Amino acid sequence: MSCRLSVNINKIATLRNARGHDLPNVVQVARDCETFGAQGITVHPRPDERHIRYQDVLDLAGIVTTELNIEGYPSQRFIDLALLVKPTQVTLVPDKPDAITSDAGWNTVKHASFLKEVVQTLNSSGIRTSIFTDPDLQMIEHAALCDCQRIELYTEKYARHSNPVQAIAPYVEAACRATSLGLEVNAGHDLNLINLPYFHRTIPCLKEVSIGHALICDALYYGLQNTIQLYLKCLQ
Ligand code: PXP
Repeated sequence: MSCRLSVNINKIATLRNARGHDLPNVVQVARDCETFGAQGITVHPRPDERHIRYQDVLDLAGIVTTELNIEGYPSQRFIDLALLVKPTQVTLVPDKPDAITSDAGWNTVKHASFLKEVVQTLNSSGIRTSIFTDPDLQMIEHAALCDCQRIELYTEKYARHSNPVQAIAPYVEAACRATSLGLEVNAGHDLNLINLPYFHRTIPCLKEVSIGHALICDALYYGLQNTIQLYLKCLQ
């Protein structure tokens, strides 16, 4: 398989939480995403559980048949959850508890020993580990020293730039350096139907993109099944 599409379903939980009942049902939506072609499901449980709840992750663990990716800040509670669920992948994100969304990659120099310890714990449980990074060569080189298997390139700067050709240059360099260090490359944040094709075409070594906000917004207009198919076409 070339680049997998992992659908981030946090927004589904946000919608459910707005009413306090169980509509939409997160587990059913995850099942449907897979039926409609998603090759992975991503969840980002935050400490205050304002989107995905820890219980959702436990429920999803039993039904996801593709790849479950749990992303978030590796607090002890988060690590305990990951060790219990044993997802295919954990993506380590340095987000603050009250962050609206992830807004930076790791400083892998400053947090080297912490990250190494976390990666070791997850790897010893057979969980693939990915470190969320900016397209910064030094950060990627130090991520490789943590023994993770992948990095996830933080794509907001690319997605928001007015000139994609200019914006993608550091990502190409970052992906090449990661590959040369034996790391596989994921990407995510602010990717959408407009900016994804060029990103994917220009960085052909991509293993996975995880997409939430834009995909769920598109689904309001095109429906979830059509939307997932449209994103899959961008990755062909
Ligand atoms: N990757 C990480 C680490 C994230 O925190 C998020 C947002 O939760 C995404 C990818 C997906 O970003 P978006 O919702 O903009 O598609």
